[in-house]
This record gives sequence, structure tokens and C-alpha cells, in this order.
Amino acid sequence: MIVALLNQSHGVGKTMLALHPAGLWSYRTRHVTVIDADPQGRTLEWSEMRAQERLRRRFTVIGLTRNTLHREAPNIARDVDRVIVDGLCHVAALTRSAPLTVDLVLVPVQLPPFVRAAFAETFRLVNEANTFRPRLVLGSLSTAATRTTSMPMR
Ligand SMILES: Nc1ncnc2c1ncn2[C@@H]1O[C@H](COP(=O)(O)OP(=O)(O)OP(=O)(O)O)[C@@H](O)[C@H]1O
Ligand SMILES: [Mg+2]
Repeated sequence: MIVALLNQSHGVGKTMLALHPAGLWSYRTRHVTVIDADPQGRTLEWSEMRAQERLRRRFTVIGLTRNTLHREAPNIARDVDRVIVDGLCHVAALTRSAPLTVDLVLVPVQLPPFVRAAFAETFRLVNEANTFRPRLVLGSLSTAATRTTSMPMR
């Protein structure tokens, strides 16, 4: 299964939402590969820092910032249980190629209207891909906490 975190907005939680399920699934003995598709390479950096600190490597992180995701991801997915694509923030060829190959597109969203406008662009790209990939699923996740959100203090 290939899951992509996509949203053209900056800082909405794509990387955070790529890494947390990767960790969770790896604890459940799933083989997971995270593809860092963002040229900023923050996920790769994070993985390298863990290696330098000799922390246990729970899942593989690879960088793939060219428009070859639709060719490479299915090959990678053959050898592992889950592939998670940490997407980049602006519309790029790679963002267009992701819906052509992944099973699930998750769009982290925050509440302000201008962020929802960016979500509309991802929605349009997924809709286009849906015409020849009808099983492709699109979901959105709110990554913004409101002031009224209360956390149990335990
Ligand atoms: N649900 C959340 N609650 C609190 N902080 C969050 C949450 N999601 C993300 N953050 C923080 O917000 C910042 C941006 O998150 P993240 O790097 O995952 O976003 P991104 O969409 O990958 O950004 P970019 O577009 O730069 O790649 C980080 O500092 C992260 O720790
Ligand atoms: Mg990111």
C-alpha cells in the first residue's frame, strides 16, 4: 500500500504525518519505507541525525525528488508492507505524478480559508487521476488544534 501526504501549503504537517504512522507501523512489525519527495530533505535529515546518534533504525527513508515517483514507488512497494510519501509544498511535477501511483492521498489541512484554497488544487489533481485510477482514495486530516481543544492532564 502506498500513502502520500500532499498539500501545496507549507507547514501543515505532511512530514509529521508521514513519520508518525511509519513509526507506528514499524512497531507492529510492518516493513515500511518513507519516500522523502521534498527537496528540502527534512525527513532524510531527521533519519541521518538518528543514525548519527546511533538510534535504532525502525524504517527506511529514501529521497526521491524527481518526477519518477510513478515509476519507482510501485517497485519499492513490492518489497515492503507500506510506502509513505512525504510530499513537497508547492505544485510540482512530482505532486502531479503521486496520484498516478499511490493508493491513498492524505491531505493535512489547517483551518484558515487560504489553506483550504491550496487543498482545492490537490483535490483537482486527484480528481484528474481518478478518471483512470477509480480506486484511488482521497482523505483530509485536520492538523490544527482549536483553543477549545482540551487535553486530559494525565
Ligand atoms: N498537529 C500538530 N500539532 C502541533 N504541531 C504540529 C502539528 N503538525 C505539525 N506540527 C509542527 O508544525 C511544523 C510543520 O510541520 P511539518 O514539518 O510536518 O509540516 P510540512 O507540511 O511537512 O511542512 P513543509 O511544507 O515545510 O514540508 C513542525 O514544527 C511540526 O512539529
Ligand atoms: Mg515537510
